[in-house]
Amino acid sequence: MLNVDGVTKEFGGLVAVDNVDLEIGDEEIVGLIGPNGAGKTTLFNTITGILDPEDGAVIEFNGDNLVQRETHEIAKLGVIRTFQIVRVFEEMSVLENATAGALFGSSESLSRSEAREKARDALEFIGLADQADVEAGALPIAQQKQLELARALAADPQLVLLDEIASGLTPGEIEGLTESIERIRDERGISVFWIEHIMDAIMGVADRIVVLHSGQKIAENTPQEIRNNETVIEAYLGDSA
Ligand SMILES: Nc1ncnc2c1ncn2[C@@H]1O[C@H](COP(=O)(O)OP(=O)(O)OP(=O)(O)O)[C@@H](O)[C@H]1O
Ligand SMILES: [Mg+2]
Repeated sequence: MLNVDGVTKEFGGLVAVDNVDLEIGDEEIVGLIGPNGAGKTTLFNTITGILDPEDGAVIEFNGDNLVQRETHEIAKLGVIRTFQIVRVFEEMSVLENATAGALFGSSESLSRSEAREKARDALEFIGLADQADVEAGALPIAQQKQLELARALAADPQLVLLDEIASGLTPGEIEGLTESIERIRDERGISVFWIEHIMDAIMGVADRIVVLHSGQKIAENTPQEIRNNETVIEAYLGDSA
């Protein structure tokens, strides 16, 4: 589905992402972990057209080249992301937020009412339907994060990229969110590429974990193997795993 080959991103002299290769297949949940500043968000930004990678990078999605494409075109091909700092439209209602997601992502041109239908369906799926008319900015942070997920889902993606969606939530809220993420995969067939620092959230559901350190991919394996991987423990996990 997603094929990343030789992706590098430099900021001045700093190599934030250093020649990274990876693949994401159908109906997979892949975790992306690594220390602060490892290049995780930058990698997401190159995949979603926010930043252009250096020359020579290959980023393909179902055979389409994503390099040099605009974010909205990439969305219409089926790749949608959420942001490390929540970015709901605070003054719009929950339903309007999700509707904006549907309009942004769909490959067909949807009427307003079709978009609203997709939005309602996504809110239902995530468990936010009873908040449809609430102003998004008035929601507690956990529900704003659910709304970001619903907005992504309303866009009919084949792949969602989640940037620290569990951070700042209580263990109970994380459990609910993790369940929603699993259901997105199991019931909608969507693949998930998920950056997370909260190991309990990601390790339980990921099929595979990719580890970045100083821009480089230093390991990739099952959660079980990654927890016991000496290189990863030294670079990042310490004894937190
Ligand atoms: N737009 C930018 N301009 C210059 N430097 C940047 C820019 N974006 C990121 N960087 C630098 O690139 C490196 C990687 O940053 P990035 O945000 O990708 O890390 P991260 O793995 O997402 O970290 P965190 O876990 O803290 O979110 C850091 O050194 C950061 O300061
Ligand atoms: Mg980041």
